[in-house]
Amino acid sequence: MTELEQQLHSLRAEAEAAIAGSADLPALDQLKARYLGRQGSVTGVLEKLGKLPKDQKPVIGKLANEVKAVLTAAIAGKREELESKIQNQESKIDTTLPGRRHVLGHRHPLTQVFERTVEIFRRMGFAVEDGPEVETEWFSFDALNTPANHPARDLQDTFYVDVPPDAKHGRYHLRPHTSPVQIRTMMKQKPPIRVVAPGRVFRRDELDATHSPTFHQIEGLYVDKNVSVADLKGTVEFFFQQLLSPDTKVRFRPHFFPYTEPSFEIDLSSPHLASRGKEWLEIAGCGMVDPNVFRSVGYPDDEYTGWAFGFGIERIAMVMYGITDIRLFTENDVQFLEQF
Ligand code: DAH
Repeated sequence: MTELEQQLHSLRAEAEAAIAGSADLPALDQLKARYLGRQGSVTGVLEKLGKLPKDQKPVIGKLANEVKAVLTAAIAGKREELESKIQNQESKIDTTLPGRRHVLGHRHPLTQVFERTVEIFRRMGFAVEDGPEVETEWFSFDALNTPANHPARDLQDTFYVDVPPDAKHGRYHLRPHTSPVQIRTMMKQKPPIRVVAPGRVFRRDELDATHSPTFHQIEGLYVDKNVSVADLKGTVEFFFQQLLSPDTKVRFRPHFFPYTEPSFEIDLSSPHLASRGKEWLEIAGCGMVDPNVFRSVGYPDDEYTGWAFGFGIERIAMVMYGITDIRLFTENDVQFLEQF
């Protein structure tokens, strides 16, 4: 036996033992590189074949190829064994253990009030309208019959935006109420109109338990021929009975808004609210659309009548849930939010 033959035999024995004893896939990969890789020992012998004497070439060549084939098969066999071991380990996971709990989020209480409010009005045939949060004076005030010197326009009450005014519609500001959506709706469609417009509004109020510089309203508008105060009162009463409870009572108190005549403040009385001391709770404003408002959107005189309302969403949520501090709605305190 030549030296090279001996070398190949012992290489084979050594490699077979190492492969059989390899503990994991990375170790096996290393062995494969060591014996069969480009710099591997068996490969080295095969490369030397060319330089061998003619009579040795076929013998050594055959043996080297045999060793290569045997080791390749041994590595493949070991690989299969190790892989199936891993799979068995994975299938040993205990599927009866309790799963990891995912914390379920839910909608913000104000969103819930909005959704329920819109739902009730949808059932009465109202569509949902939207308007910009950055408004112009014409839409927020002029078209709503609000005089040029009305205090609501003051810098102390309204956030003006520091950009040049619109040539036609005046100064830009963050809308102090959702009422401009009434104007935008009437300008793009003819009566009959039945819409609600939920949204965010802004006022220069100091933040305290009952005031916030940003809050939410839902505006309502119904315009058609022969719409009456009785329609308004019936609709408002039905709405609050649906939202709170069937025994909720609604009271209208005369009030003033520039865009309605007559105007009312709405008081609520509900067994759920009575427990908190006062019987009647002031909740919103409403009234019959002022003819001047119809004029500003170009409706012909005396053809239509209509009513409008504006509800404060925070106010409604506070009486519904007995919340006494408006700041809780924006503080993102999880313990508060989780109650709803
Ligand atoms: N815009 C009023 C406010 O912000 C609420 C309001 C009162 C809206 C009477 C109306 C209405 O549409 O008719 O306080």
